[in-house]
Amino acid sequence: MPAEGRREPGASPREGGAVDNASVPPSEWTIQECVARYLERADGFPRRSEGESVLFEHVPKDARRVLDLGTGDGRLLALLRRDRPEIVGVGVDFSEVMLDAARKRFAGDERVDLVRHDLSEPLPALGRFDAVISSFAIHHLEHERKRSLYGEVFDLLGPGGIFANFEHVASATHRLHLAFFAAIGEPIENEDPSDRLLDVQTQLEWLRAIGFDHVDCYWKWLEMALLVGVKPPQDALPA
Ligand SMILES: C[S@@+](CC[C@H](N)C(=O)[O-])C[C@H]1O[C@@H](n2cnc3c(N)ncnc32)[C@H](O)[C@@H]1O
Repeated sequence: MPAEGRREPGASPREGGAVDNASVPPSEWTIQECVARYLERADGFPRRSEGESVLFEHVPKDARRVLDLGTGDGRLLALLRRDRPEIVGVGVDFSEVMLDAARKRFAGDERVDLVRHDLSEPLPALGRFDAVISSFAIHHLEHERKRSLYGEVFDLLGPGGIFANFEHVASATHRLHLAFFAAIGEPIENEDPSDRLLDVQTQLEWLRAIGFDHVDCYWKWLEMALLVGVKPPQDALPA
């Protein structure tokens, strides 16, 4: 998602609308002004709340522990807990600037833990979760790391647990990529130089191969997509 109005060398659109920014680290998320610019507009992305509400519908009603990957200022966790304050949340992010904003948001709330961690590295021991959620974060990781992270998410979930990744995904064509930026009112030059966008289908295939059930894209609008997989219940898992 757009974080700052700049595009760096090496951030070149490829055929199919995928964006290859492999040489650009996601360092803008550690810069106060870039974070502030994103957070100012975070509520304003068209159709965002539609995708979020579909995500919330699929978090099981009895979910108690929920992990939010790339939590930023804790927006998604906070929205989920608005109607379900009994949920215990863990938010992971590598940006101190974002984590500071999340600490302010959750000040005094003992049911939310914030953990500084770079998702390009294997997840630390965080315990078991009933749901792992994420919003516009995992697309900053290299594709191979996305895939291995999905495997780690599977291991962290309890039987029947859900993984719901509300994600910025690659368009099928460059024209559609441009159409997405036009639709969100953002000049293409403002494209986030650290985006490593990947198509929906590849990610769904990975989730199926890992062992998730009921894998599908549950909601999509242009480059915003909700990818969901459910860990099989205990009796379906190999002994
Ligand atoms: C577009 S913001 C989304 C924040 C929040 N999830 C939301 O929906 O508003 C992307 C987030 O991913 C985090 N992020 C990017 N790369 C990361 C990494 N390698 N490890 C941990 N967090 C990362 C950024 O710090 C930032 O908070």
